Amino acid sequence: MTPRSTRILRPTAANLARLARVLQRGGIVGVPTETVYGLAANALSATACRKIFRAKGRPSTDPLIVHVAHRKQLAELCTVNLAAERLMRAFWPGPLTLVLPKLAAVPAVVTSGRPSVAVRMPAHRIFRRLLRRTGLPLAAPSANPFGYVSPTTAAHVVDGLNGKVGLVLDGGPSRIGLESTIVDVRNPAHPVLLRPGAITAAMLSRVLGVKVTRPTAHATAADSRTGQLAPGMLLQHYSPHTPVTLHERIDFTPAPGEAALLLRARPRGRRNPQVSCLSPSGNIAQMAKRLFAQLRAFDQGGYRHIHVELARGHGLAEAINDRLRRAAAKRA
Ligand code: TXA
Ligand code: MG
Repeated sequence: MTPRSTRILRPTAANLARLARVLQRGGIVGVPTETVYGLAANALSATACRKIFRAKGRPSTDPLIVHVAHRKQLAELCTVNLAAERLMRAFWPGPLTLVLPKLAAVPAVVTSGRPSVAVRMPAHRIFRRLLRRTGLPLAAPSANPFGYVSPTTAAHVVDGLNGKVGLVLDGGPSRIGLESTIVDVRNPAHPVLLRPGAITAAMLSRVLGVKVTRPTAHATAADSRTGQLAPGMLLQHYSPHTPVTLHERIDFTPAPGEAALLLRARPRGRRNPQVSCLSPSGNIAQMAKRLFAQLRAFDQGGYRHIHVELARGHGLAEAINDRLRRAAAKRA
């Protein structure tokens, strides 16, 4: 039997009520967030969360992020320390995920058996309405087949998961376009940046008053020894099927059958469908917002190779380059 295809729902009151019912009964739905679209389920139900892993083809070793509408919901999910308090006050609701010690109500499937849980309060108005309606914390990884580019529109979700999820809530294109920053704050003296994003290490350090570091090679190796995937550190992730090569600067015309993704300067001369520029004005936020959609478009455009320019500078540029390096990493 072929599963029925996925439907996109507009954010009417009736549709939100319908989506909330699906979630309350243990189903999964696609949801918009300000970073990327997510595939959501009741975070307190192991059965519901297993459906997320199944739909995405995600290994059970890769834990989920739990989304909340209110700080009060954290009481049954995790232990909060002063560092976490400060970050929540500064950046929530927003694209920042905190890793904290988990409490018993969070099923092991959500955290892949870890003693910690990742929590985030999203800043998307429509998703927040749905969160409040369900009254539940919602576990949601990005709504793409495991390893593929994250979705930034409802249509992208259908593109990757058609028939694997019944309903997707349309909240328009994601405003930020890159997944949330993830920081492990279990040790307030040594916060660790697990994934760069729109909230930068410098912004976190300023609020915390201590330096935020990247995980050591040692920690990553330790993780691979235990056979657990180091969260956020999977090298080949966010990858189009088409091979990607990175360049400091692209000042050549791509060969026939190849595509070029420029971040900055607009190419001179006639319009060429093989070349796309994410932000002619060099606006870094615009580059981030359009990056995944354009990678998808080239991936599905029948090209045999995609050349991509790296971003320059710190902050959001580092988050963009992190995703690009993973997109370009050779498949095993
Ligand atoms: O912006 C986002 O974070 C989006 C939207 C939907 O909120 N979600 C997202 O989830 O991008 P995704 O597909 O990256 O999956 C969650 C990631 C895991 O791969 C892992 O890197 C990290 O969150 N994570 C979850 N629980 C963790 C934990 N206990 N310790 C460390 N990392 C964790
Ligand atoms: Mg993901």
